[in-house]
Amino acid sequence: MREGPFSYHISLDDRNPTHFDNHIIRSLSSMEGYFYDEAAYSSMLAEEDQVLYEVFEIKRPETVGELLQGISVIRPGKVGNEYFMTKGHFHKVLDTSEVYYCLRGHGLMLMETPEGEWALEEMKLGTVVYVPPRWGHRSINLHPDQELILFFAYPAHAGHDYKSIEERGFRKLVVERNGKHEVVENERWDQSS
Ligand code: F6R
Ligand code: ZN
Repeated sequence: MREGPFSYHISLDDRNPTHFDNHIIRSLSSMEGYFYDEAAYSSMLAEEDQVLYEVFEIKRPETVGELLQGISVIRPGKVGNEYFMTKGHFHKVLDTSEVYYCLRGHGLMLMETPEGEWALEEMKLGTVVYVPPRWGHRSINLHPDQELILFFAYPAHAGHDYKSIEERGFRKLVVERNGKHEVVENERWDQSS
């Protein structure tokens, strides 16, 4: 972790920031239970444990006042007809927000509150998405062959709570139908509420 003020550069040619402290790689095997089409998930995994997304984090002390930053890179692809996406989470300190800036690609930010209110924002080059306090969030790559690259920043003490989304998912799923994305109900969510 760096001391004092610093800068770094995000090169879109090799899409890695010139400085990062942590590199997270999420492959298909780490996403068990996240995609609704379990048969499609199993047959894809049997073929190859491919990488779905990566996160490069610029770490800061996890204290009030600090901002943790980084970029996430979501690969193009689908499990069945559901687009590649991040796991999604609430912040452990629920009352914390996050800002995303789209550097490449085409995607969606799916958001919901613990009470089940939901929202979807489209992301293209230059889009800024503000995720307010209390809103869980997941990034979804809609592009058939381009990576979705997002810069993010959030309070470093926020932490992550994956549990409820791991158990029941988001209220809505985003799937492809007739070449377009469509928002459908997640039956697992409905049954759990
Ligand atoms: C941090 C944040 C992003 C995500 C990243 C991967 O609060 O929202 O850095 O962590 O997009 O998504 P998850 O953490 O849901 O696997
Ligand atoms: Zn977050």
